[in-house]
Amino acid sequence: MRYLTFALAKGRLAKKSMELFKQIGITCEEMQDPATRKLIFVNEELKLKFFLAKAPDVPTYVEYGAADVGIVGKDTILEEGRRMYEVLDLGYGKCRMCVCGPESARGLLQHQELIRVATKYPHIAKDYFYNQKYQTVEIIKLNGSIELAPIVGLSEVIVDIVETGSTLKENGLKVLEEVCPLSARMVVNQVSMKMENERIGKIISELKKVI
Ligand code: PRP
Repeated sequence: MRYLTFALAKGRLAKKSMELFKQIGITCEEMQDPATRKLIFVNEELKLKFFLAKAPDVPTYVEYGAADVGIVGKDTILEEGRRMYEVLDLGYGKCRMCVCGPESARGLLQHQELIRVATKYPHIAKDYFYNQKYQTVEIIKLNGSIELAPIVGLSEVIVDIVETGSTLKENGLKVLEEVCPLSARMVVNQVSMKMENERIGKIISELKKVI
């Protein structure tokens, strides 16, 4: 039997994902060691491999088949636009993709002004403004702490993830429009879905029972 390989997005999602797998009897002892510098973890008994990757790289590993299965946020799936199957909403990591800014920017959105939009998600922002709102905007790609942009005058609004809303609140910003709801998803390589249909199908149906 060949190994089934799982790519997990590093950070909050990975921990939750391993907890979920544990509930269906899939464990990985090696991964528990917090001091480890290892990148790949093996469960010999079940012939499974797990590795952690930066979230935007997970769809890349899955599309090319270096991982059969991936667990990653819907935000990353939409942004990366890779060819793969999204098979399951895991129900955790729930948050929203939103257009945010100071209250004063609300009018700029309503009047279709040519505004600047800072974001870590240029494809999602572009699709929203161009294809859904028919509003021409200038999109500025940033890599983090997106809330800074309207505060220091880099952009009028941002497109970013809102979970509790506390980052916005503490910085005097508001949700002005909602783009879409987000959560953790399971994705599968298109060839693996056919070749390993039995094993992957079983994992999906068992996960469905516990989520
Ligand atoms: C995310 C997001 C917001 C914040 C939202 O950032 O970009 O800044 O969390 O959460 P809240 O609504 O609960 O305050 P993250 O902490 O992942 O880091 P980043 O700013 O480097 O992207």
